[in-house]
Amino acid sequence: MMRQAGRYLPEYRTIRNRSGAFLDLCYSPEKAVELTLQPIRRFGFDAAILFSDILVIPDALGIPVIFKEGQGPIIKPISIDEISLLKVDNVLSHLIPIFETLKELSIQLPSETTLLGFCGAPWTIATYMIVGHATPNQVPTRLFALEKTTVFQRLIDVITEASILYLVEQIKNGAEAVQIFDSWASLLDQDQMNRWCIEPVRRIVEGVRYHVPHAKIIGFPKGIGAYYKDYRRLTGVNMVSLDWGLPLSFAQEIQKKGPVQGNLDPLRLIAGGKVLNDGVDMILESLSSGPLVFNLGHGIMPNTPIDHVESMIKRVRDFKGN
Ligand code: CP3
Repeated sequence: MMRQAGRYLPEYRTIRNRSGAFLDLCYSPEKAVELTLQPIRRFGFDAAILFSDILVIPDALGIPVIFKEGQGPIIKPISIDEISLLKVDNVLSHLIPIFETLKELSIQLPSETTLLGFCGAPWTIATYMIVGHATPNQVPTRLFALEKTTVFQRLIDVITEASILYLVEQIKNGAEAVQIFDSWASLLDQDQMNRWCIEPVRRIVEGVRYHVPHAKIIGFPKGIGAYYKDYRRLTGVNMVSLDWGLPLSFAQEIQKKGPVQGNLDPLRLIAGGKVLNDGVDMILESLSSGPLVFNLGHGIMPNTPIDHVESMIKRVRDFKGN
């Protein structure tokens, strides 16, 4: 489940309440291992996703990130001068605890449980770095990209380079596949989509495969609608993760070209009952005859009841096929 480790779990909240800053959890191998394993122990998912956050990359680039209770991430907005000075030299040494976490997880996880690593896509990371927090429709970042294109390109290039180093090291330390989250990909016109979403992810895929030729990479360009059609071919990702906004007939077309993941609306998981069952059945009936990783179409919400998660898992596992 996307964001399967986190705030809807009481065992997560216990550790979170006892700990200091959120990023310190990500940089503490002992705690990050425990938090990664919690949903596996409780639900027996097929895959464990590293407990971390996409915003460790700005932090590793020397732009401190803090998480404020109830507000999400806060970053000091980056200046044009700071963009020109950004360097990837310290990225890997800053992220060593995360590689230790992966190494330990690959020892502790049952062999049938896949270990997933991840990073944010450059566009999504850049939106947080330019403004410092999420904004409606990412207006300031879109305008920055249009008006200060050369500077913005440099920011995207640095994040791309850092992400390649980061993902290669994740795979070397035990991640069996990696997912690239482009949570804010939906807001761009065709030219900007190619420049800021597709091309940087293509370069990450190419860069990672230069070091690890058979690296398995999942792309999640949330909300890109019709652009999903060519996303796999243009970027080179193996699997595409789909949000719930796509018609399932369109999802079937995408699935003809390779595996898909998704795409239950996380609100159905909060609502539960018939609404949840119908949502699960719709996906399984449309997509289960091809390569499918059943998943949510975006992250689980903190107020999701655990018994709804249990009943979703049971319904998926009991499904007998078409
Ligand atoms: O199970 C997992 O997937 C855990 C690892 C994980 C986290 N964040 C932990 C986390 C992953 C894969 C992410 C990805 C992430 N982080 C994305 C991309 C996916 C998506 O949901 O769109 C984005 C955009 C972020 C940035 C981020 N981190 C935001 C906007 C927030 C605050 C809002 C929220 O949903 O909590 C976070 C905080 C965060 N990341 C928490 C966790 C467990 C909650 C921290 C807390 O308050 O305890």
